[in-house]
This record gives sequence, C-alpha cells and structure tokens, in this order.
Amino acid sequence: MKRYTLSFLVSCAMALPLAMASDAGQILNPIKAASPASELHWQDDKAQMDAFVDVLIGRMTLAEKIGQLDLQVGQFAADGVAISNHHQERIREGKIGAVSNHYGAKWSQTLQRIAVEESRLGIPLLIGYDVVHGFKTIFPQSIGEAASWDLAMIEAAAAVAAREAAAEGVNWTFAPMADITRDPRWGRVSEGAGEDVYLVSKISAARVKGFQGADLASNDTLMATAKHFAGYGLAQAGRDYHSVDVSERELWSTQLPPFKAMLDAGVGAFMTAFHDLNGVPATGSQRLLTDILRQQWGFEGLVISDYTAINELVPHGYARDEAHATELALNAGVDMDMVGQLYSRHLATLVEQGRVSEAKIDASVRRVLEMKWRLGLFEDPYRYSDPQRAETEVLSEYNLALAREAARKSFVLLKNDNQTLPLQADKLGAIALIGPLADSKRDMVGNWAGAGDRRHRPVTLKEGLEARFGDELTIHYARGASNKHDVPPSNRQGFQAAIEAAKRSDLIVLAMGEHDRQTGEASSRVSLSLPGNQLALMEELKQLGKPMVLVVMSGRPNDLQWADQHVDAILHAWYPGTMGGHALADVLSGDHVPSGKLPMTFPRSVGQVPIYYNMKNTGRPYDATNPKQRQEHYKSRYDDAPNTPLYAFGHGLSYTRFDYGELQLSSDTLSMDGALTAQIRVTNSGDYAAEEVVQLYTRQRVGSATRPVKELKGFQKLHFGPGESKVVSFTLTAADLAFYRADMQWGAEPGRFELFIGTASDQLRSARFTLVD
Ligand code: NOJ
Repeated sequence: MKRYTLSFLVSCAMALPLAMASDAGQILNPIKAASPASELHWQDDKAQMDAFVDVLIGRMTLAEKIGQLDLQVGQFAADGVAISNHHQERIREGKIGAVSNHYGAKWSQTLQRIAVEESRLGIPLLIGYDVVHGFKTIFPQSIGEAASWDLAMIEAAAAVAAREAAAEGVNWTFAPMADITRDPRWGRVSEGAGEDVYLVSKISAARVKGFQGADLASNDTLMATAKHFAGYGLAQAGRDYHSVDVSERELWSTQLPPFKAMLDAGVGAFMTAFHDLNGVPATGSQRLLTDILRQQWGFEGLVISDYTAINELVPHGYARDEAHATELALNAGVDMDMVGQLYSRHLATLVEQGRVSEAKIDASVRRVLEMKWRLGLFEDPYRYSDPQRAETEVLSEYNLALAREAARKSFVLLKNDNQTLPLQADKLGAIALIGPLADSKRDMVGNWAGAGDRRHRPVTLKEGLEARFGDELTIHYARGASNKHDVPPSNRQGFQAAIEAAKRSDLIVLAMGEHDRQTGEASSRVSLSLPGNQLALMEELKQLGKPMVLVVMSGRPNDLQWADQHVDAILHAWYPGTMGGHALADVLSGDHVPSGKLPMTFPRSVGQVPIYYNMKNTGRPYDATNPKQRQEHYKSRYDDAPNTPLYAFGHGLSYTRFDYGELQLSSDTLSMDGALTAQIRVTNSGDYAAEEVVQLYTRQRVGSATRPVKELKGFQKLHFGPGESKVVSFTLTAADLAFYRADMQWGAEPGRFELFIGTASDQLRSARFTLVD
C-alpha cells in the first residue's frame, strides 16, 4: 500500500526555502506522517496540520486549488469499478477534489490511486455518499428512527452505517438532515427528526456523534454534514424547493438551533440549501454562511453547496449568469461546488478579473485539505477501502440485529381499542394480510437508502409474520389495493381477492401507506390521504365486521381520520428498513412492546397544516372543553373541524399501562443561578415489560415576546418491568428557560411558569413555579 506522504513530502521539502524546510521538517517527516490514526484528533494536531496545509497550498497552482473545490458524481462502468475516462483524467490533472454517489472498496481504491499516484501533488479524494439511515443494513427511515426518542440507539445506528460505508471507500456522508418542518406535505419530512427544536437538536447531535465517532481519522467513521443550512423545512405550501419567508425570531428560535447543536457535536461539514430565504437564496447567503456560521459560531469545517445549487442562483433571479453565481457563492462562503461545475469553469477568470480573491480561494482550499487531513487521508488514502472489512462489516449479524431493534423502537401505536394488539395466535385461527405494503420489499427501506438492496434482503411484513407464526396461524394474503396516485378510488381491481381472504379470516391486518417514492426529495403532496384506492378497500372490508388492524408505512403524517374512527388498532411503522418485517412481527405478536412516540403532530386533515404542539396562544384562544366557549363565534378556531390534531406530538401507546402520579416540584421558585427538581412517580400497571418516554414541557406565562403554550425541555426513555414503579426526576435551571427575548438577546426572564410532565404533549400533569431574579 502506497502512503501518500513519502514521494510528495520529499519533493515538497526539496523545493522549500531553507527556513521553511526546517520548520516544516518535522511536519513532513514521513515517519511522523505515518503515525497511527489514533494519534490524529480534531484539535490536538492542529499545529502540525496547519503547517502541512501551508506547505501544500504553497505548492498548488490556481487550477489545482480550484480542483480541490470541485465535487463530481462518478459515471460508472458496469463492473462498478471504472469511472468515466473524462473524470479519471480530471482527477489525474488535480481538477477534482471530491466524488460522490458511488462506493465500493475496489472502486474507491482505484480512484484514490489515480489521485494519489498519478496526479502532480497526489492529494487524496473526499468520497461522499448519502448515508442517511443506514448504508447496506438499512435502519428505519430517519423520521421513524426519531420516533424512538432513543438517542443511544440512534447514535449506534449511525455508527453502524458509518462502519459499513467506511469499509466500502466512503469517507463522508451527506447527513444528518436537521430541517425542522411543520408541514407534512413536504416530502422531506421523512429525512429529518420532526417538528420540535429540542428533539431535533438532540437527535441530530446524536447522529453526528454516531457517524463521526470519537476520531474522524479512524477507518470506521465518516465525516458528517449538517444539512440543509437553513430554513429549508419551511418551504411554502410544502412544495419542495419553494421559497421561505421566515421571521428572525422564528429562524433563530426554531430553525438554527439544531445546526448549532451539530456544530457543537463536532460536525465536519455543512451543506447549503436550495431555497430562497427571505429574498436571498441560502446558497448565496453571506449572512448564513459567513456572518452566522463562521463569524458568530466559529465553524472551521467545510461548506458544500447542495447539488447544482450554485447554478440555481440564476433561475432564482439572484445571479445574472453562471459566472456571477460562482462569484456570489464563493464570496458568500461556499467552499465546494457539488456537481454544478461552475467553480471549475469560472473561478480562474473571476480571479483574473479581481471579482474573487485568490486568498478567498485559498481559505476554501485550506478547509478541504484540513478535512482530508482530519480524515487521515494524507496518512493513508486507502484506509476507507478495505474489501476484507467490507466482507465482515457489511450486513453483519450485529448490524442486522441492531436494525431490527431500531425498527421495533420506531413503531408508534396510535390506537389500540379492546387490546386488539398484540395478536393472540391461540385465539385467532386465520388472519387476512391485505395491502400494497404487505409484501413489497422495496418499500420497506424507504427513501435515501441508495446502497441498500431493495430486491432481496428486506424482510416484508408477510415474511415476518410467516416466520413468527409458522403453523400457529394461517395467513391469507392479498395485495387488494394500490397506492399509486393514478389509481382512482373507483378502481376495484384486486378488491374481490382481498374480500375473499378477509372472509376466511378472524382478523384483518392491513398494510397501507405510501410507496417509497411518495416521500423524500421532490415528493411533495397536496393531500395527506392514503393514496390510490386503499381507503376505498378499507371501507369495503369494514362491512365484514371483523376486527381490523392497520399498519401504516409512510414517511410522513398522513390523514388517518377514517382509520381512527373505523379501525381497531393502528401501528405506524414508517419505512422500517431491512429487518422491518421481523420487527413488525415482533411487535404485532407482543414479543416486544411498542414504545415509539410521534416526533411530529398528525393533523386530522391537510386543512389544519401547519399544525404543531408548541404554537402560540393567540389573543382569542379556543378551549373546546369549555362548553361556554363552544357557543362563541369570535375565537381562533375552524368552523368545520376541531383545532386539535388527530394525534398529538409525543403521542404513542403501549401494550401496558403507565400511570403517572402527582407532579412535585422541589420549590415553587427558581432563582437565576439555582436549580429546580421536578419529580413524578410512573408506574407500569400492566403485565408487559415495556419502555416509556417520560416527557417534560414548560410554559412561560408572560414574556417580553409571546411564548409557546408548551415547549419540550427534556425526556427520558426508561424501561419498566411489569408492575414496576419509579420516581422520575428532572432538574431544570434558568438556562433551560432561555429564549430570544424582545430585544433578540438570548436569556431567561423572571416570571410565572408552568411545568408539565407526562406521556404525550396533550396528556400532562402540571405544576407552577416562579423564576425570580
Ligand atoms: C440533493 C439533496 O438535497 C441533498 O440532501 C443530497 O445530499 C444531495 N442531493 C446529494 O445526493
């Protein structure tokens, strides 16, 4: 294995002036450079890295510098090893700094070899990929993972994804996505962690830690990317790429904190966003990318544009032409151009014309080289390409077991009348399994699972139930309906077979929802209903009068009003991943008890959107539980539907029952430098061992700027044996109550507060306290 350093460093040192050579001598000492990866850390080798990068930049031509700022997607031959001759040549010329969209131990070795051995300076490549919720072992869709509220598990899942991808040459993932959205029409809700700033911040930071581990240079970790910076989840009307108009207060209170949390967790890269934010496209925003990210927050890592987002400054009407777009993006703070090839086409001329300074280019190149250093690529460019490791790491038993565990934890039991679930095989002779998602392998893995096998590996619900119940239960399967948008409800193809299957059964399990292309990027919808003729089939099956269980697979909150009224039990399973079918059988059978909680509010209908739990009270709040108010007209409410959602943020049932006792506070006052303890007894009064997410919210009654009616401030996911009771404690300080005050300064304000603890945002015990100066 050729190490990058030797030949280059020798030639480098020879070309250096004496003083610099002696300065750099230490740095360029090949023995030092070949030291074990474990000695390379983010900060403690900074002096060495700086000196190394100085030398390297000093040797680069402008063309080579610009090359480092260019990311190209591979064009691949059928064997998956070659890339297009054109790209190979550009790598050889030092004109590509990073590639993405492909992987493979051998493939990446080939590319790194060209970069390191055949280019003048031998600079290794960043190799990126969208490793989002797994690599080959696919974990639940990100929103589903978030529904577990299990930070340790989420971190472990990201670590597995990193380990698999890193064995196949990838050293950089374009994840996590931390865009907060309150609009389920937006297809990309499936990629994030929901609607709440606290939860999304915690989960996104856990993902960063999982991907990057303790040491970026280790051969089983990846550089993570905080995306999409910022405000992308507020796309108007839920239409992807649409403009965003957001207040400063909202931007700072809701959209930016998850990004700061990822930065604090050490994220290596940021990705810009596609949209127009308050009149300036995010990819051209000096304010976002330089003033906030670099100057205010001190981010030292790498900023990459989203895919051709620099080119899109032209249709946005922000840049006159592509050269102008290039100038705006580089000057705003975009270090690397993803795919658009504008930097490679225009930067040199812009430097000649004095529109972009070479110093600015140097600063971006430095960040690229620094990340390569930190990933350990200068030490060993092949560290991430290991066919043997790929053999043992990828889809290992441990990884598959963790994916199964993660899937079980992601399911949310939305409804369970008469304890319809778990299925009682001894009382049920036969069940009907009906729906387009009951036996569809590709839909199990959802979107952004590019490396995941969709044809063979994923275990479907049908396979999972058959494996779990064997002869214990007869399963009559019929696809029955379609979830394709172009299949109208009047189309009854397949209905008869489903009705026949149901007639021969004691209970009907429906597997309905959206197929994998109905959520994700560019997959926005105007309706939240179950697409195609699924609802029509459910209505017909309802006529049979048999118990019905609905398993929903989807990447967004859907309109489940009909199901809520007519179906006995509803389990939301998102896209559960490679082991989804087994995990579903684990939960439907009662071998495992569901514990997921909604990370996003489920509206009754699309008309309520945006709907979220931490809304403001308004001047005319409407309380539906107050009979007097129901007669009053001039209240903030709908004439034709309740204000309340179908299922609230934080909602999720269990097979067991959790009873919450009295909420007790250590004091009724909290001082600015003190602490307050809130305690509540939680008892598992059922027969199952189970987990419960105990949730803490607060409300500031009066503020210099109005405050939400509730804000999540903490949660604990705890395990309870049958009959077990625990006192759960939370400690709160003034820092937990800080917000952007009227003057936009961050801090807590003295005054009256409510504190709530409970099982969901709409089922809480409350107590009061005062924050005193
Ligand atoms: C576009 C998407 O917006 C982004 O999230 C993704 O990482 C890139 N394409 C690369 O695939």
